[in-house]
This record gives sequence, C-alpha cells and structure tokens, in this order.
Amino acid sequence: MESNEHPMRALVQHSHRGPQDLHLRDAVPRPVPGPGEYLIRVGAAGVNFADVMRSRGTYADGPQAPYTAGFEAAGTITAVGPGTADPLPLGTHVVGTGPGAFAQYMTMPAAGVLPVPDGWSDAQALGLVLNWATALAALRPLGEIRSGETVLVHAAAGGVGQAAVRLALHYGARVVATASPDKHDTVKALGADHVLDSRRPDLAAEILRLTGGVDVVLESVGRATFRTSLAATRPVTGRVIVFGAASGDAELSTHDLVFTHQVQIKGLHVGALAEKAPGIFRSLLTELDTLIAAGVYPPGDAQIHPLSAGQTVLRELEGGTTRGKHALDPWR
Ligand SMILES: NC(=O)c1ccc[n+]([C@@H]2O[C@H](COP(=O)([O-])OP(=O)(O)OC[C@H]3O[C@@H](n4cnc5c(N)ncnc54)[C@H](OP(=O)(O)O)[C@@H]3O)[C@@H](O)[C@H]2O)c1
Repeated sequence: MESNEHPMRALVQHSHRGPQDLHLRDAVPRPVPGPGEYLIRVGAAGVNFADVMRSRGTYADGPQAPYTAGFEAAGTITAVGPGTADPLPLGTHVVGTGPGAFAQYMTMPAAGVLPVPDGWSDAQALGLVLNWATALAALRPLGEIRSGETVLVHAAAGGVGQAAVRLALHYGARVVATASPDKHDTVKALGADHVLDSRRPDLAAEILRLTGGVDVVLESVGRATFRTSLAATRPVTGRVIVFGAASGDAELSTHDLVFTHQVQIKGLHVGALAEKAPGIFRSLLTELDTLIAAGVYPPGDAQIHPLSAGQTVLRELEGGTTRGKHALDPWR
C-alpha cells in the first residue's frame, strides 16, 4: 500500500535493462505498513549483487519494473501495521529485508527483523541477515566445515566473501581465496592462507597443487569459476555450496557428477532457507549473536554513498570492481 500524502526520495528501476535505468525520484509515495509489517525510516540501505540481478530481470521472482529498488536496510521503526503481534517499540533500530529499501521509508515484515546490535549504527548492522547469514549457512549447516579442513572462497573481497573468510578462519579452516589482483591486499589482511587471482587460467591446477583438493567450496561466481570449483574439490567427501552466479549461470550434468567430478553439490538461497527450514535459520541467528558478542563478527564497515550514486554503485558491483559492503544513505 502507498500514501502520496507523504512524498519521499527513492531510487526507481524503470526497466529490466540494468542499472542504467535506475533513477532518483523526489516524489515517490511513502509506503503504508500492512498487517504484520513495520514502517521503517531507512538509516542505511545495503547494496547486494541481487540488486544487479533484479535490475536485469534475472532474479527469480524479482519485482517487475517500474519498482522502488533495494531490499536490505537498517533503520528505525516509525509505525506498526494493524494486527502485528508483540510489536517492538517505536524508535527501535532494526535490520532486515523488504521491498523498496533504496528510499527514505520502506516496509518490512515484522517477523523478519532483528534489532541492530547494541552500540552499532544502522550502517554497521547491514549484512547481518544477508552477507553473514549466507556465509555462515554455506560454511556450517551446508558446508559442515570442520577444523583443519580446507575451504575455497571465491569473490573473497566481496560482501559475502569477506564474512566467509573471517568465519572459515574462526572455525579453524585453512582458507584458499580468490579475488581480482587489486583486491588481494584486502583478503590477505583478513588472514586468508592463500590468495589467488580469480581469472588465472591454471586456477584449478594451482589450488590442487597447494591443497591436494579442498573440502568445501563457496561457489558464488558461476560460469567463470564453476569448472574450477568442481575440479579443485576433494572427490567423494568434498562439498560445493552453490549460492550465486555473478558471472552468469553454469551448466552441470549427471555425466559430470557420475564420471568426472564425484562431489557433493548443495544449493543455497538464504531467503528460502529462512522460509523452508526456520529452525536452521534461527540457529544461524543465535550463532551470529554469539559471534558478535565474541568480536568474531565486528561492526560492518560499509562504504556509504548518497542515494543519487546508486546507479554508479550498482554498475561497479556488476562490473566486479567493488570490494566489501556498499550502502546508500537516503537522506544525503
Ligand atoms: N543465495 C543467497 O542467498 C545469496 C545471498 C547473498 C549473496 N548471494 C550471492 O553471493 C555473491 C556475492 O554477493 P555480494 O553482494 O557480496 O557481491 P560481491 O561479492 O561484493 O560482488 C561480486 C564479486 O564477484 C566477483 N566476480 C567474479 N567474476 C565476475 C564477473 N564476471 N562479473 C562480476 N563479478 C564477478 C567479483 O570479485 P573479484 O573480481 O574479486 O573476483 C565481484 O566483486 C553473489 O553471487 C550474490 O548473488 C547469494
């Protein structure tokens, strides 16, 4: 629902031709929270690779253009929709997902929000329910990582990648990371054991030379790395966790799995996990709380841009030139 009594600034995606058709608008109607929803005054909106995919219409069940872009934010509860059970008090800072995050106000399903950790700003809390929950799900319930095992993390300088490197090291894994060469300093600073150029032609051979075969792969790049990931995984016991395709979709056949790469392949979508395995999702959130309290998961350091820079940030994310988490401030 929308109310045009309260116009607001927002980034609107006008087509499925990509970030080029993402534009700032000054008089977008402020949404009205429905049953079970909060109205959130957005303090900071998280930028994710899924925003790029939505802008190109390649995200399954993504919004139809024109739509207010963005889906992750942290901010303040300013209104509560009718019939919302046990609502948090107005003024509570929360982080979560919902439609139209690249705006001054958005709605979020009340059941899905988490309080911003004590002492953290809105921007520092971004990534909690996406980047970190995804990295943790990939490593623990799906990857079943054990101390002493070896993990391959692709796009290790990225939003999910940096979280994954920190977590894998915390759980005692040896980390082989890939990233573009100009991002290697970022990944080395996190403590990864080996950092390799994601585009080197002999990537699989080099990983096999270094490790003899990895136990877990965090595969989020797709077409450009998928064959390497399969070839570098330890046969029979190795797990490949597939949760993205930043370079495009990859193909896998039964023939591949039976005759060439006898590895375990697991698909992950954190939203589907939350919906279809709520118990596992709750245990992830409990574990993230513990990791925050222990300082393993530090406050985020998103690079914050004004809303007007949204198109540029999405283009850079699509082009693979960003590192770390990026955020938009709708009040700047
Ligand atoms: N399934 C889920 O629930 C879920 C949740 C969150 C994120 N994801 C996925 O996880 C991945 C990371 O997301 P993110 O938001 O943190 O993005 P990101 O890692 O910050 O950005 C994507 C990175 O992928 C790498 N890449 C390699 N080949 C590329 C190519 N041909 N084009 C563009 N990038 C390429 C680039 O790093 P280098 O240049 O250093 O290689 C680029 O910086 C994405 O695939 C995203 O869709 C999935």
